[in-house]
Amino acid sequence: MSLLSAARAALRVYAAGAAVIVAQLLRRCLGGFVEPVFPPQPERVAIVTGGTDGIGYATAKRLARLGMTVIIAGNNKVRAQEAVKKIKEETLNDKVEFLYCNLASMGSIQQFAQAFKKKKLPLHVLVNNAGVMMVPQRTMTVDGFEEHIGLNYLGHFLLTNLLLDALKDSGRPGCTARVVTVSSATHYVGELDLDDLHSSSSYSPHAAYAQSKLALVLFSYHLQALLDAQGCPVTANVVDPGVVNTDLYRHVFWGTRLVKKIFGWWFFKTPDEGAWTSVYAAVTPELEGVGGRYLYNEKETKSLEVTYDLKLQRQLWARSCSMTGVLDVTQEVFSR
Ligand SMILES: NC(=O)c1ccc[n+]([C@@H]2O[C@H](COP(=O)([O-])OP(=O)(O)OC[C@H]3O[C@@H](n4cnc5c(N)ncnc54)[C@H](OP(=O)(O)O)[C@@H]3O)[C@@H](O)[C@H]2O)c1
Repeated sequence: MSLLSAARAALRVYAAGAAVIVAQLLRRCLGGFVEPVFPPQPERVAIVTGGTDGIGYATAKRLARLGMTVIIAGNNKVRAQEAVKKIKEETLNDKVEFLYCNLASMGSIQQFAQAFKKKKLPLHVLVNNAGVMMVPQRTMTVDGFEEHIGLNYLGHFLLTNLLLDALKDSGRPGCTARVVTVSSATHYVGELDLDDLHSSSSYSPHAAYAQSKLALVLFSYHLQALLDAQGCPVTANVVDPGVVNTDLYRHVFWGTRLVKKIFGWWFFKTPDEGAWTSVYAAVTPELEGVGGRYLYNEKETKSLEVTYDLKLQRQLWARSCSMTGVLDVTQEVFSR
């Protein structure tokens, strides 16, 4: 990527963020965000990736407050144990636990899936939330994937596929299991380079992050198409939390960090507000049996036009299968 295209990618990402901030500010001035209310979910089990911090922590806490069994999938044992302790204390729900999962390692994801299955628990909700953003230097995961596409996208691609049988076994018509995947408004300015998903020819932290978030939208739509074709009682939706005051911004331009520090309380959503759409997608009766949607502020909205391109969805799915060792059943399922 030339310097010019890297600068263009950065500008586009910042412009997407700024547009969301202006909309959030307007909404705050016009009455603010109204906390949604959801029915209790005492018999249901959820996994939340990246549930140790930020939006994931708030999501895990809200699900626990609804009475769910919540498993936090995280890669930092100390922080995860603290998160579990705090959630248990604050929600008075004892059914919260931590299971180690480093999403930047396919081996760790496989071990996580095995460890979860050993528990013989059902699985009703999988929240694919963990992520990194704008890592300044091109960094590789254990398996040699560029970190944004590897962790944010391929990690969740593999995890979801390894847990699909548990989701399918736990969903029922009228009470479907749900896959909730956290994307971002940056997907609107993302470009998918199928020939160079790992940014090996040149690297822009902004383009790499936006690409990973775009891939997650394409993934969710194709997953829903497969589930529909197989008649499975599982839905897959993708959510956009807005611009949220979390540590995700640790790598952004210092000026943005300064603005966030001073005005974050006003411009940004709180982590709890940022979690509302994820929780909505996970539990609301309004979405019973409804999948393949892009949700923002607890409402369906349109994602980038290219995300509806079925050929691109299939191509990305096939490429992801070959990179993660997942069997691609697309052709078989659609030819039935
Ligand atoms: N904040 C926003 O404005 C915003 C906007 C749009 C979308 N999002 C999306 O929302 C999601 C949550 O972001 P956030 O704002 O809550 O960020 P955050 O506060 O930085 O939380 C990210 C979470 O991901 C976990 N994580 C990072 N690397 C991991 C790994 N290798 N394995 C397992 N877990 C890992 C982190 O755990 P450790 O720190 O312990 O590694 C942490 O719990 C992300 O997907 C992000 O792209 C956020």
